[in-house]
Amino acid sequence: SIASKQYRTAFHFQPPQNWLNDPNVVYQQNQIGPMIYNGIYHLFYQYNPYSAKWGNITWGHSISTDLINWTPLDLALRPSEPFDLQGCWSGSATILPGNKPVILYTGISESGHNVQNIALPKNISDPFLLEWVKPPYNPVMVAEGVKPTQFRDPSTCWLGKDGLWRTTVGAEDFEKKAKALLYRSKDFVKWTRAEQPLFSTNSSSMIECIDFFPVSAKRKRGLDGSTIESEEVKHVLKMGVFDNSHDYYLIGKYLEELDEFIPENVVEDDHRMWLRYDYGSFYASKTFFDAEKRRRVLWAWSNESDTISDDIVKGWAGVQTVPRTIWLDENGKQLVQWPVRELESLRMEKVELKDVEVSKGGLIEIKGVKASQADIEVEFELPELKKAELMYHDWKLDNAQMACDQMCASVPGSIGPFGLLVLASHDLEEHTAIFFRVFKTSTGHAVLMCSDQRKSSLWPELYKPAFGGFVSTDIKEGKISLRSLIDHSVVESFGAGGRTCITARVYPKLLLTGDAHIYVFNNGSETVKIKKLKAWEMAKARIN
Ligand code: FRU
Repeated sequence: SIASKQYRTAFHFQPPQNWLNDPNVVYQQNQIGPMIYNGIYHLFYQYNPYSAKWGNITWGHSISTDLINWTPLDLALRPSEPFDLQGCWSGSATILPGNKPVILYTGISESGHNVQNIALPKNISDPFLLEWVKPPYNPVMVAEGVKPTQFRDPSTCWLGKDGLWRTTVGAEDFEKKAKALLYRSKDFVKWTRAEQPLFSTNSSSMIECIDFFPVSAKRKRGLDGSTIESEEVKHVLKMGVFDNSHDYYLIGKYLEELDEFIPENVVEDDHRMWLRYDYGSFYASKTFFDAEKRRRVLWAWSNESDTISDDIVKGWAGVQTVPRTIWLDENGKQLVQWPVRELESLRMEKVELKDVEVSKGGLIEIKGVKASQADIEVEFELPELKKAELMYHDWKLDNAQMACDQMCASVPGSIGPFGLLVLASHDLEEHTAIFFRVFKTSTGHAVLMCSDQRKSSLWPELYKPAFGGFVSTDIKEGKISLRSLIDHSVVESFGAGGRTCITARVYPKLLLTGDAHIYVFNNGSETVKIKKLKAWEMAKARIN
């Protein structure tokens, strides 16, 4: 049945059982206590300790030294006080000078209101930060001028030049306008709301799990959250759009004097024109700055696409995406993501292909690795671009999913569809297709990336969409790459070096009875070439 262990993941984070949603904070603790040499990463996550469906929300807690293998600890926060009796919802941690972590989180009060609370480690020299104390002066923020049930998820704090700490909290006002409210504090206890929000939008009622952080316009390396403005620094404002459960982001300038975020290259106040980290099952994401490795790391919750009753039978629901390093693309217009390097430590047996042509209708099986637990990287060489088919629709950013819906892997084109069929049965009755399709447009070329789940499983009642996103890449160079992480019920794909990402949740029946297969396919009239392909079987990480 769907309760099979085969759908549990080998290298995607999940608790031993029950419900998981948002990653709340992950941060690295440097050398707390004299015996600790390596930093310890802490991952907190929204967790229901009693059931595989959402409810009774607490903060689960696990630690790691490599972001791959995780040890479970006791719950860090659970409802206990009038200011969080109905739930300990999302929030963030900030490390104050002297290496003192503080958690800011949303409590659902006795009366059902969203309020912001503080929690402090009971014993600062405990490297595991097992116990957290909620000071009696909580809550530290209550809703003012916004709906008291739509006011939550304080971001990681940053420090201004004026010595004040800042955080942003998502809210919905009484005109159904979404706001990234800004709060300032000298001591983390008394918080004052700024007159002007950091940002506001009419294009969603509520925004959740806001993340706000600086990125370098010059290099890949990550920046500390409190990096002050300069020509080399841009800011990213990520918002979880409540109306459709997608994470969108804007790149722009943070004007520190005004405490306002001004997006670049955005004319309309319409979230459908904003960018997404991932065009699949990916929500409530959050980044943290890894000071030791000088990188910014992104996590997100990937929800199940089976039914709630399936989840109850399975006894678990929700995984975290693999941690990804995230940085600003050279063009300054979008972010790029790539699985953290540590993931490669799980790579085992490898198969390789070089310079193999895949002509129209071609199907090449990649044999020699366990195909339900694999990491594949492939670089394709394209035919002459003048062969590309004309894009007859003026597809906009948010139409990519619709385009993938209409032009599935089996609808022939010219350059593409070509890509991978993964978690495939030998008769292809079940498979998940990840592929590209190149178009000619009035201004040049457009590249569509799809992850099509419609044939992913024979189980009934699953959510099996075709996800899609456009890929902004210099296709004139005549190549494009694809990396897919296959982990039982997760297929996480990175197009063009991480410029477009799509995470899918699938439950192929074949995993219960036989072996999964991986194929490279081409359903375009033009031949594409596998310049090089590497596929690794992945070891199982120690997760909780
Ligand atoms: C996002 C979210 C947050 C909230 C949490 C509750 O998935 O709805 O806004 O704090 O989940 O679990």
